[in-house]
Amino acid sequence: MDTWSGKPSNETLEYLLKRRSVKADDLVEPGPSEEQLSEILTAASRVPDHGKVVPFYHLVFQGDARKHAGDVFGEVYSKNNPEAEGVQVERERNRFMRVPLVVGLVMRMRKSKKPLWEQLMTVGAASQNLVLAANAHGYGVQWLTEWYAYDEAVKAKLGISENDAVAGFFYIGTAPEGVQEERERPDLNKIVTHWGPQTPIKKGDEYHMDKFDFPETDVSVVKRS
Ligand SMILES: Cc1cc2nc3c(=O)[nH]c(=O)nc-3n(C[C@H](O)[C@H](O)[C@H](O)COP(=O)(O)O)c2cc1C
Repeated sequence: MDTWSGKPSNETLEYLLKRRSVKADDLVEPGPSEEQLSEILTAASRVPDHGKVVPFYHLVFQGDARKHAGDVFGEVYSKNNPEAEGVQVERERNRFMRVPLVVGLVMRMRKSKKPLWEQLMTVGAASQNLVLAANAHGYGVQWLTEWYAYDEAVKAKLGISENDAVAGFFYIGTAPEGVQEERERPDLNKIVTHWGPQTPIKKGDEYHMDKFDFPETDVSVVKRS
């Protein structure tokens, strides 16, 4: 029986308070060893998951697999952009070659009585665990989708089913030395409320949609391949 349920760790806290991405373009060799990769994927799979449905799978792109995936990106990009110049196509071909390791995390909805919305959030948790575990092994990471995560032709050529969705491609490698530019972080004064019956709720910026629709809840109607 595993009884671990959290323990004080200043190191973890300090890390979380400073966590940041490193641009894929800046990441270099070496990438994680096989053992480290296995731990990263284990951590990425050990997430809160209502009903234990495991609504995701991982694609590991290492070595030549990065090049073969790049061939797909180049081919589809050329087809989508017939006027594209050679240098642009070459850039697409080299997407995954920027780093030693890319992990694709793909969302695959499972049959469940629980709302799909919850499966989506589990995929987000898996994604962030992947980032944190790679960081904990000392590697820099950037979570990217760019255009090819959403392109149906790319998905098909990579072998990803039509009904599955790419949560992200996680670019992993060694970060350069030195301080990196910081980005603005959320202001808690705008988004945290200690709730009470009459307390106005701080909701952050204006809402940007007329209505947010939760994803379909009845998973039996979702087509699969
Ligand atoms: C689902 C998802 C997709 C993303 N896709 C991109 C992307 O295509 N291009 C990009 O520049 N950043 C993308 N980002 C943002 C980066 O992962 C990262 O958050 C950003 O570079 C800022 O770094 P930070 O993690 O230090 O806040 C994405 C983030 C998420 C959650």
